[in-house]
Formats: sequence, structure tokens, C-alpha cells
Amino acid sequence: MIRLLNLDLSWEYAAMIQYIQHAAMLTGAEYFAVIEEELQHAQEEHEHAVRLSDQIQYLGGVPTVRVEEIRTSLDNREMLRQDLEAEYDALRRYLERIEQLESLQLYDVAQVVREIALVEQEHIIDLEKALGISKVNRAYR
Ligand SMILES: [Fe+2]
Ligand SMILES: [Fe+2]
Repeated sequence: MIRLLNLDLSWEYAAMIQYIQHAAMLTGAEYFAVIEEELQHAQEEHEHAVRLSDQIQYLGGVPTVRVEEIRTSLDNREMLRQDLEAEYDALRRYLERIEQLESLQLYDVAQVVREIALVEQEHIIDLEKALGISKVNRAYR
């Protein structure tokens, strides 16, 4: 479990750095609001890294300082797509983690991960909207 939470932690570090870099590289007046969102996301990933580190220490582990793969591009939309893919991955991992933690009756740690997962869901919503991805079911169009 500690190994898996350390994997999540190294992805949080990667996400934080990726958002800072993308916020600096996004250009164009239409991206001003998105840049603010990206910087806000970077702060929230930082907060997630702190919370995961505390949970890993609490479980008797040593928090990693490893950083997972960071993706970047010189194209605005490609950067946002990279961010969105990372968020889909994060949410998928956290939902799996909640199940694993609860099966070990680690409900307290699972609660922290659940709170983090909700923020990743908000990040997904922000990025889907920024990319103009419509989620409306075809039946309602
Ligand atoms: Fe996060
Ligand atoms: Fe996120």
C-alpha cells in the first residue's frame, strides 16, 4: 500500500511541475483564464503531495522524492490535452486506491484519498471545459 501511495505521490509532483511549466508556456488572450486555472491546479497538486506524504509517514513508510514523467508541448491545446490525460489517470488511480484502502479497513487514509479524488474530478471538469469537450449525451442534442 505504501508503494502504491508513493507512486501516487510521484505523479502529484509531476503534475505540479507540469502545470507550472504549462502556465508559463500557454500564450494568447483567450488563454488568460486558463493560465490562472493551471496555476491554481499546481497549488492543489502541491497540497495533495503534502497530504499523501503525511499519510505515507503515518502508515510507517518513507515518502518518495521521485518525480514521474512530465509531458509538455509548444502547442496550447496539446498542453491542455496532456494535463487532462494526466487527470484521468490520477482519478482512475485514486478510485482504485480508495477500494484497496477500504478493503484493508484503512478508512481514515481512504477518506483523505477520497478528498483528493474529488479535487482531481474538478480539475477534469475545468480542463474539459477549457478544451470545449461536450459531455452532453447524443439523445439530448
Ligand atoms: Fe492531485
Ligand atoms: Fe489534478
